[in-house]
Amino acid sequence: MQYVRGAVLTFTSDPDGENHPGVEYLEDAVVVIDGAHIQSVVNYSNFLAEGGDGQAVHDVRPGLITPGFIDTHIHYPQMNIIGSYGAQLMEWLERYAFPGELAYADEAYAETQAELFMQRLFQHGTTSALTFTTVHPHVTDALFRAAQKRSARVICGKVLMNRFAPEGLLDVGDGDDENRALLEKWHGVDRLSYAITPRFAISCSPDQLQAAGDLLAQYPGVYLQSHIAEHPDEIASTLALFPEASDYAEVYERFGLLTDHSVFAHGIHLSEDELARFRASGSRISFCPSSNLFLGSGLLDLQRLDEFDVAMGVGSDVGGGTHFSMLATVADGYKVNQLLGHNWHPLKAFYAITRGGAEALHLADRIGSIAPGFEADLVVLRPPSDTLLAQRLSADQSLTGQLFAYMFLGAEHAVAETWVAGVPQYVRVDNG
Ligand code: GUN
Ligand code: ZN
Repeated sequence: MQYVRGAVLTFTSDPDGENHPGVEYLEDAVVVIDGAHIQSVVNYSNFLAEGGDGQAVHDVRPGLITPGFIDTHIHYPQMNIIGSYGAQLMEWLERYAFPGELAYADEAYAETQAELFMQRLFQHGTTSALTFTTVHPHVTDALFRAAQKRSARVICGKVLMNRFAPEGLLDVGDGDDENRALLEKWHGVDRLSYAITPRFAISCSPDQLQAAGDLLAQYPGVYLQSHIAEHPDEIASTLALFPEASDYAEVYERFGLLTDHSVFAHGIHLSEDELARFRASGSRISFCPSSNLFLGSGLLDLQRLDEFDVAMGVGSDVGGGTHFSMLATVADGYKVNQLLGHNWHPLKAFYAITRGGAEALHLADRIGSIAPGFEADLVVLRPPSDTLLAQRLSADQSLTGQLFAYMFLGAEHAVAETWVAGVPQYVRVDNG
């Protein structure tokens, strides 16, 4: 048994503000961990009253313990091209993303980078990710192995793309044999799941999209991830390549790809009719504000998603996004919605990167909450004492003020510890 003492924040539903019933906040509590699971969460005074041993606790005060963050859209092979200068989406793919992914053809490199990727996630408090890999099967194998070694919940799959990319990054045919073999090898093993991953409609021939849809229909519980309605140039090219479709969503609909296990990054420029069809199919959107600003793609209106009742998670979209940190990502999300004229409450942002992400991935019964029976994926937020963040946190003790400070000043300094399945996988060395 392990005992972690600190302030604890978790959610039971998407909250509107500090006093919303969806927010569960305990100022001084103990998270009791039994193996890989949370056994209970108790106020410290009750812990003592019930015979708990104050000496046995791992005391992280004045830290804030939250559920591990969930990144619903990231590209593991784009770590090394973060922050590449001077291009919007289509040119950026050609100049930076494709050459960056081509380097992963080397198996030893893919292996080393997979290890590094898992460490980077944990260093930023992310414990679960839905991630793209590359077209090469060994890259998906490498990431699954690196996640399995650390008992992390990772969902990924081989990228499907058979046109408009350099030699060496293209499937021969529809890639279905390799895709199917990887799915059967990894889906449901330990905490790992498979996602069928057509890059986006531009990259895939109609036959390849059909094969992806057929495979998805054969394996209930397997995910689909792709991109949709990210950038005006991409939308124009897509509609030119699929003239029979009346809009972008219909391109995917025609191949059976709009399902409740489908997560599409971006969705910035979807029409009301497309959003209504997202709602009807249960398809989800991953909000990637850092990437959307960096690549100049546009502003996703969260209020509009709410109105259409479309399920949403948050994605860093590294390397189009410029941070691994989900805190920095939601800070960008806040700014995006400021430009659209509405506030995004920090409690809603924290919900979105914890329980909301888990809901979007159909995993809200296992991750995204600090409650009995849940998998023990936790982040301890607490900056070193000599940082501006520490200064800012002591100036505003309200919960909203604390969370907002973590969002805007927390990218580099916030995370003191990251626990994955009951094991501290990252502990910052300069803990102050
Ligand atoms: N659309 C197709 N591929 C990509 C990618 O790698 N990044 C982003 N942001 N959008 C894409
Ligand atoms: Zn992406």
